[in-house]
Amino acid sequence: MVYHALAIDGPAGAGKSTVAKTLAKRLGYVYIDTGAMYRATTYKALSLEINLNDPEAFDFLDSTDFEFKNGELYMDRVNMTTLNRRKEVSDNVSLVASHIPVRNKLVHLQQEIAANNNVVMDGRDIGTVVLKEADLKVFLTASVEVRAKRRYDELFSLGNKVNLSNLEQDIKRRDAFDSTRKYNPLKQAEDALYIDTSDKNIDEVSELLYKKFMEIVNKGEF
Ligand code: DC
Repeated sequence: MVYHALAIDGPAGAGKSTVAKTLAKRLGYVYIDTGAMYRATTYKALSLEINLNDPEAFDFLDSTDFEFKNGELYMDRVNMTTLNRRKEVSDNVSLVASHIPVRNKLVHLQQEIAANNNVVMDGRDIGTVVLKEADLKVFLTASVEVRAKRRYDELFSLGNKVNLSNLEQDIKRRDAFDSTRKYNPLKQAEDALYIDTSDKNIDEVSELLYKKFMEIVNKGEF
């Protein structure tokens, strides 16, 4: 059995998760939010009070269980959706995601899931590292202002008190860190479809990608 994969990369707030969730539902595929895995790892590292600067301190990952159910991540059987949005997690996740042992472990788990399921996977290095053979690779982006406003709305709807200009600063800082880190930085795969969603409706983008993906998958089956 050959499984299919749609890879979506891009910076925070570009609309990746909304588009990925919509497409996964429509295709009947499993949605894998890889950012949630880096966040949950950060949450656990903070709870264990390990030194976050030490790449070798993350061996707890060998005995950590990750499972996706209905697009939501469970770590060690705990639903991480709300915990993952905590400020101390957001403040430290870029650092944790820059460690080679952490990335090796999580990339391996992501590849394992894609080897056994049809997936829509979103993240920063899906098209370039995790699923180089994906049927379709997409790079979604948008202006910093638009991305900050989207994140603001998302956090606000979850009941968080947030400040728009602080969010803009956070996004700029994380973008810079994620795209300049040495190992697997955020970058567009050469064969990825580039889409700027700043003045696009997310439904339009999902529709366009659905059509494109179906074209590719159907072609491959004849
Ligand atoms: O998409 P997000 O904001 O939940 O991602 C959280 C952090 O994890 C972000 O700083 C980048 C990092 N990340 C990564 O390095 N590689 C991925 N595949 C996904 C996320």
